[in-house]
Amino acid sequence: MKRKTIIAANWKMNGNLALVKEMSQQLNALQISDNVEVIVCPSFPYLSSLSDSITHGQLYLGAQNANEHDKGAYTGEVSTDMLKELSVKYVVLGHSERRALYKETSTLVAHKVKTVLEAGLTPILCIGESEIERVSEQTETVLASQLQPVLDELGIEAFEKIIVAYEPVWAIGTGKTASPEMAQATHHFIRAFLAQVNESVAAKVPLLYGGSVNASNSNELFAQADIDGGLIGGASLKVDEFITICSTAKGLN
Ligand code: PGA
Repeated sequence: MKRKTIIAANWKMNGNLALVKEMSQQLNALQISDNVEVIVCPSFPYLSSLSDSITHGQLYLGAQNANEHDKGAYTGEVSTDMLKELSVKYVVLGHSERRALYKETSTLVAHKVKTVLEAGLTPILCIGESEIERVSEQTETVLASQLQPVLDELGIEAFEKIIVAYEPVWAIGTGKTASPEMAQATHHFIRAFLAQVNESVAAKVPLLYGGSVNASNSNELFAQADIDGGLIGGASLKVDEFITICSTAKGLN
C-alpha cells in the first residue's frame, strides 16, 4: 500500500514573524521528493502571514487546535470556519500537551475531530503513552483508549480522512527518541487495531511519528514500514534542520 510521506511542523507557542518569513522562503525554494507533503502548524496569529507566503505546491498550512463548536460565546477560542478563511487544511488535535495541561479528554478530542472533519479539514489526531504507561506495559491499552472514542463517535470511515500521529509523551521535547524498531512496533499495533474494524481503511491511514525527531534520526524512522512521516516540534523551529528533514525525506512511490 503506497501512502504519502507527511512532514508536519508543530511550532507550539514558539516562533515569530521573522521565522515565518525565513521558513516560508526556504521551503518555497525547496526540492521536495514527489509524494512528500510538508505541513507547517504555527500559532494562530501567524497563520495569515504564513498563508500569504506559501507558494510551493507541496506545502500546506495547519493549525494547532480548533474549538469543537462552530461559533458562539467561547472567548479565546478559534473555530474551523476561521481557520478555513486562512487556507488552513490540517488541524492538530489531542496533542499530549493539550491533554495534560488543558485537560482535554479523549471524548472531547473525538468531538473536535468531528467538527474538523465536518468543516472539510483534516485532523492530525495525536495519541501517545506516558513513560509510566510504557514501563508498566500499558502502551497498547492507552492508545486503544485514545482511538476508541473517535471510532465510537465517527466510525472507521472517518479514518479515511484522518492522519494519526503517534507521539510517546516521554519522547516529546526530551531528546529521547523511540528507537525505529520500537516506533515501528507501536505504529504496527495502531494499524492492526484499526484493521480489526476495517483492513482497507487501516492500510491507508497515514501514521506519523513524533517525539524528538531531528535531521539525524528522521530518515531511519520514516523508513519503517508503518511510519509515514513525522510531527516535528523543536527541530521544526530551526530552519536549516527542518529544511534538511524535508529535503531528504523520500516519498514511498
Ligand atoms: P518534539 O515535539 O519534536 O520537540 O519532541 C514533537 C511534538 O510535540 O509534536
